[in-house]
Amino acid sequence: MLSAEEIKAIDAERSHYPTAQAVGIEAMKIVQHHRGWISDESLREIADHLGLSVESLDGAATFYNLIFRRPVGKHVILICDSVSCWIMGYEQLREQLQKELKIGLGETTQDGRFTLLPSCCLGACERAPVMIVDEDLHGDLDSEKIGEILADYE
Ligand code: FES
Repeated sequence: MLSAEEIKAIDAERSHYPTAQAVGIEAMKIVQHHRGWISDESLREIADHLGLSVESLDGAATFYNLIFRRPVGKHVILICDSVSCWIMGYEQLREQLQKELKIGLGETTQDGRFTLLPSCCLGACERAPVMIVDEDLHGDLDSEKIGEILADYE
């Protein structure tokens, strides 16, 4: 069941959107903020509350890479693997992250601190190579910056 806090936040957002369908992503972000990820059960609860089908909500989630349909770590790293980032050093960046975190793409560190996920263009090509940690964008990355950035997320 959605908590009173989740319902209050979703209903507050709902008033800013023209349709229940339009507020779906925001509603999932609210629930994810409380629960860490969007399980099938969470999806059903949100769909019921908004009067939407589970399928349409799930479909929206697949187009938004900050909605997690599987459990993730405390911090989620999205590493951009699109063209500009490829050219500017994506491969080295990915290798370094995998080495430092001791995980592959799509995996979570043993201590549950980080999940590393690939992403298409993050809309900051002029700062390639780029990654997002939680909701913070980090650009112009190099091997020195990676360690410093990871240390900031406990
Ligand atoms: Fe990486 Fe656009 S290609 S941010």
